Amino acid sequence: VKNPKVTKLVEKLREISYIDSANTLMEWDMEVYMPKKGAESRSQIMGYLAELSHKMFVSFGFERILNSAIAELKKGVLDENEAIIVRRTADDFEQEKKLPSEFVRECAELYSRAYTIWVDAKAKSDFSLFLPSLKRIVELERKRAEYFGYVSSPYDALLDLYEPKAKAEELSSLFDDQKAFLVPFIAKITGSARYASMDRKLLNRPCDLRKQYRFSKRTVRQMGFNFEEGRMDASPHPFTTMIHANDHRLTTRYQRHDVLGQALMSMIHEAGHGIYDQGLPPEHYGTPLSEFISMGIHESQSRIWENVVGRSLPFWKYLYPRFQKAFRPAFDDISLDAFYCHLNYAQPSLIRVDADEVTYNLHVILRFELERGLIEGTLKVEDLPELWNAKMKEYFGLEVPNDAHGVLQDVHWSGGSFGYFPTYALGNLYAAQLFDAAKKQIPGLFKQIENGQFAEFKEWLRINIHQHGRRYSPQELIWRATGESPSSSHFIDYLKTKYTEIYEF
Ligand code: CO
Repeated sequence: VKNPKVTKLVEKLREISYIDSANTLMEWDMEVYMPKKGAESRSQIMGYLAELSHKMFVSFGFERILNSAIAELKKGVLDENEAIIVRRTADDFEQEKKLPSEFVRECAELYSRAYTIWVDAKAKSDFSLFLPSLKRIVELERKRAEYFGYVSSPYDALLDLYEPKAKAEELSSLFDDQKAFLVPFIAKITGSARYASMDRKLLNRPCDLRKQYRFSKRTVRQMGFNFEEGRMDASPHPFTTMIHANDHRLTTRYQRHDVLGQALMSMIHEAGHGIYDQGLPPEHYGTPLSEFISMGIHESQSRIWENVVGRSLPFWKYLYPRFQKAFRPAFDDISLDAFYCHLNYAQPSLIRVDADEVTYNLHVILRFELERGLIEGTLKVEDLPELWNAKMKEYFGLEVPNDAHGVLQDVHWSGGSFGYFPTYALGNLYAAQLFDAAKKQIPGLFKQIENGQFAEFKEWLRINIHQHGRRYSPQELIWRATGESPSSSHFIDYLKTKYTEIYEF
């Protein structure tokens, strides 16, 4: 960045980022180290810093600086990077200004109360306790959509917060393709002789926690996560966070009898997120060029490592002998073939977060259909449990025993996050499409993976995805990387090939 007006803007953006960095570090610390009695005051400090950062961003001083940069943009004197920084910042600014501060305050208050109410309702498995809060939340989110503005569906306005430029109508058609494939495909899996012969507890062998930590760390280092710019710790819910361009934190959790389901596969997932963050250009820290593009693209980077690579046969041809050795003798009696099949055990289930890669998107599609209906006003909040249970029956053939295992299971709606769920499914879909493109462009990619060589693949992701920050829209980025618009066909083909082979039908 050379233009003096844009330089001034970047300086201001960076100042705001310092506050956000401090806040992110406190949030990480809260998840990893927080003593019980410190939580209350920590929330206050974090709330204060979040407000401070927001105030700096929407201040008159900032607006003046932004406007002089916009004037330069209009004169046409900016280079490409400068233009993107100004354009994206102007969009963000306009978006922030659209919400009246009373509205923001009401949301913040309601959502922190609603979270506690949701926790209680879930514990008691009683939707009626959460119903009044959720009704108000849906009202507010419909209002938010009005403030933001939209062309065809209010849901689009909310979707835009997580997946810029995505449209409900387009998602519907992507998801309908998947649903039409998935429902009968899952029935084929569960009807197969192989499925009947499998033992779902086969891989739950006791493993020393120190060894789990060491093996997970060694694996993600080999994937290319740079520990000179990052750490790995334990927390109740695995997550990845970026404190600064050169400081990235991964967390996972450990269970003695579930090294795969908890520690290792979660760590591979989170490292996929971390490698994305490490691939953002550090020289643009604080600006949109060093920010991630969307939740869907971020999730694609974790899923491509966790599922497409991390649950593939070539990957385990490399890793399995090392894995067996690390946990000797726990897995000595399990052949590579049996291990690979059981690692890809697929089954209809009630809970989204425990779902495998075949059934996962169906959980998301169910939520997308319901929340879109709520925001568009075609469904009523009081009908949710019944609608939820009917869809579970239709898509998975499962009876929902109670609200805790049904409509109350996810935290998202209690925080007003409508439009977030679809990004999980987009992540899977982008991952399959990106991997197909990488396979075409990297000769012998599977051979490399079989030899534990990930550098070229990681570099392909960096060049095609990571280094661009928010330069493009998600759709444009996918098109540039793969030569096609986002589609369901790669994901469907991927599942079809892999699972037909595993379940032998
Ligand atoms: Co993730």
